[in-house]
Amino acid sequence: MSRTRYCIANWKMNFTLSDAEGFLAEWENKTLNNPHIKTIFCPSFTELFAIADILKTSSSQLGAQNVFYESTGAFTGEISCAMLKEAACRWVIIGHSERRSVLGETDDMIHQKLHQLLTEDLFPILCIGESIDERNAGQTKAVLERQLNIACENLDSSSLNKMVVAYEPVWAIGTGKTATTEMVAETHEEIRNILSIIGLNEDAISILYGGSVSADNAESLSAIENVDGFLIGGASLDVEKFYSIYNQL
Ligand code: PGA
Repeated sequence: MSRTRYCIANWKMNFTLSDAEGFLAEWENKTLNNPHIKTIFCPSFTELFAIADILKTSSSQLGAQNVFYESTGAFTGEISCAMLKEAACRWVIIGHSERRSVLGETDDMIHQKLHQLLTEDLFPILCIGESIDERNAGQTKAVLERQLNIACENLDSSSLNKMVVAYEPVWAIGTGKTATTEMVAETHEEIRNILSIIGLNEDAISILYGGSVSADNAESLSAIENVDGFLIGGASLDVEKFYSIYNQL
């Protein structure tokens, strides 16, 4: 089955607007001639409107790095789905391990965010992944099962089939340590099985790998059967590296 492939830039808290504008001015000159790959940029909230304007004439799309699970109200510092849609944002990353570990987001909060995104017709990029202690203790599959089960609990399966799942082993994010191709192959297959057990159309859902993806390892990771693209942090801050990864997908 041919699933959509994704090349997603998670710029985290790195680029100011002028940095992002400089990047995209160079990106505009790149030929994106693979219609099967969706390229998505996820800048900071403050840059969404300006970047939406830049991407208007591009085939690349806009994503946000977070969202809140209520639609409106007294939630100081939070951003709603309606606000993201007003900024022409279509994709939203939820469940990123930095938000789980640094900001204390729980599986239940991620479930509520997923519910809100599906209710408001935004496309979720749901991140899951185990810590190094969990992997060493042989708990990887159980952790992924728990994260996916809680996130998807009681949600409409036809809406859930529109999400993208990003497998990001916590120990590989920003560390330069990539999971081996064997680990990625085995874990992506397990994730597809879990999606099937949950009652989803597992063959339709793209599963991305994230964690120190680089221009040097993209080709071997991309060749793995159940890898449908990448969520890229560090290497997405460099136009040439990001474009090289796109070309290896
Ligand atoms: P990295 O980040 O590519 O810098 O490891 C990936 C991510 O956190 O999404």
